[in-house]
Amino acid sequence: MCGIVAYVGDRDAQEVILKGLFRLEYRGYDSAGVALIDGGKISVRKKEGKLSGLAAMLAREPLKGHIGIGHTRWATHGEPDTPNSHPHTDCSGRIALVHNGIIENYLELRVALLEEGHRFSSQTDSEILAHLIEKYYAGDLLEAVRKAVSDAEGAYAIAVISERNPDEIVVARKSSPLVIGMGEGEYFVASDVPALLEYTNRVIYLNDNEIARLTRGGMSIYDLGMRRVEHTPSTIEWTLEQAEKGGYETFMLKEIYEQPDAFRNVLRGRILPGNNGVNLGMEKIAEETIRSMEKIFIVSCGTACYAGMGGRYLLEYHTDLSVEVDYSSEFRYRNPKLGRNTLVMTVTQSGETADTLASLRMAKEKGCPVVSIVNVVGSTIDRESDGVIHTYAGPEIGVASTKAYTAQLGALVLFTLYVGSVRGQMEEEEIRRVIAELCALPEKIERVLRVEAQVAAIARKYYRAKSAFYLGRGFNYPNALEGALKLKEISYLHAEGYPAGEMKHGPIALIDKEFLVVCLCTKGEKYDKMISSIREAEARGGRIVAIGTEGDRNLKDIAEDVIFVPETLEELSPIINVIPLQLFAYHIARLRGCDIDKPRNLAKSVTVE
Ligand code: M6R
Repeated sequence: MCGIVAYVGDRDAQEVILKGLFRLEYRGYDSAGVALIDGGKISVRKKEGKLSGLAAMLAREPLKGHIGIGHTRWATHGEPDTPNSHPHTDCSGRIALVHNGIIENYLELRVALLEEGHRFSSQTDSEILAHLIEKYYAGDLLEAVRKAVSDAEGAYAIAVISERNPDEIVVARKSSPLVIGMGEGEYFVASDVPALLEYTNRVIYLNDNEIARLTRGGMSIYDLGMRRVEHTPSTIEWTLEQAEKGGYETFMLKEIYEQPDAFRNVLRGRILPGNNGVNLGMEKIAEETIRSMEKIFIVSCGTACYAGMGGRYLLEYHTDLSVEVDYSSEFRYRNPKLGRNTLVMTVTQSGETADTLASLRMAKEKGCPVVSIVNVVGSTIDRESDGVIHTYAGPEIGVASTKAYTAQLGALVLFTLYVGSVRGQMEEEEIRRVIAELCALPEKIERVLRVEAQVAAIARKYYRAKSAFYLGRGFNYPNALEGALKLKEISYLHAEGYPAGEMKHGPIALIDKEFLVVCLCTKGEKYDKMISSIREAEARGGRIVAIGTEGDRNLKDIAEDVIFVPETLEELSPIINVIPLQLFAYHIARLRGCDIDKPRNLAKSVTVE
């Protein structure tokens, strides 16, 4: 997830674009750049690091002009350094482009372009588009962009300028957001409304597979078949602060709602044709390493650790591997038996968590290969791991991790499929079955999100509770831990996650008429056992809120409240089932008047021990 901004009109383009980028910094902040047509020539300024670095550079060496593009980056392909930052140019430097999204077939396009003589200056997927536009350019920029995007598979929102068409910006989009702001004799382009709200509240949202030419004199929009498309402008009524959160009241809620797209991103470009397997692009981890592995340690903290626990269930279910999971803060001080045939996997959103990094270094010292699941590209853990599976969830700003968790679970499913296939322990048919269901999950997550109003009503019944248990079994036991963590960290209501079968061994003594018991009881092998645990809690007076599979009438008789979710494979059910738990924690915290995005005593990234 990156931020793009573009401007054409009479204003100082550098000022408009830079201000817009600052408004979009929440979309990415590892490098930034602008390109303006200055005296008939394209000039580019770009810099790794925070946007303030670019602003300082532009203050020293300003660009002049009334048309330009800008970008604030959240790296996906290639390090967050200056060459990889946007704008990217073609070989001649006469075409410049900013891109948000992921081009899935970029490797194949890059090889073809190299053979045709194009020279690349970055490792990004985005630069491909600049060279494709160069290849197709024959005087009409819009036509060249149209042909270029027709070759690209994946997601893109782009803005392009060319010295030879110095009065126009061409924009296009597919599966990445792009909004056009309309002024008097001027147009603003951005990934998101906050970048342009200072200047106009009349906007149009470009649809997938549409392309537009913007000049001072007007705007024309086409589909990819070059048929004219008409849009009716909308009026934005949000304040700037509301707009930064996409109209949501907090970043956490926005991020909860970003999960369908975040999940699409984790799968993007990784599923082989015909659902026959996955490609994780971990060049540095040889298949032989995967074949000779005897044990995996999954090491991480907090929510990432619960995702790791979910990974253990997946790997043990589908492969013959022995898997151990530990908190990084414990693992680094234990004396685990590590060797060449032990793979250590770290899971981390930030890639900077101190204990996880120390665990990674310890594993490497002992000669273990390390594979990490990381959201922040270019983070220390990203750089120091032998193999990395990026989650591509985009920046997570709310302290409570939500979209990173479901993306981590998605990455762990992909890793399991990869290991199962390389080690010959998963039949092709089984791989296809899991992949088909995996691809159906974004749409199912969208469906689950529709329960928010019901969850909010249930939260109103329980928000004064003193304490809560979250119960689950098997694949959903780690989810019980995650649900409880979400509740305690943002609402300060005491909650504990338990494997349901453990209740009888002590915790059940706590249950009385005040006690809230949240049960993960969707259909699967452990369903009957979960029902027994619910009955035990109910018999002690516990107030039961159950997460159940759509159509399960049985649960309604046992639980005080049931939140129904769509059916999926049991092994994938945590990805669906956690969504109502996130929403439940959210609404309880809201009713308790908590500062949801910045809970007390917590930091987003724990970089000290
Ligand atoms: O950046 P990481 O994924 O390594 O962070 C790990 C934990 O600090 C993090 O998941 C934390 O538990 C969150 N606040 C949970 O919502």
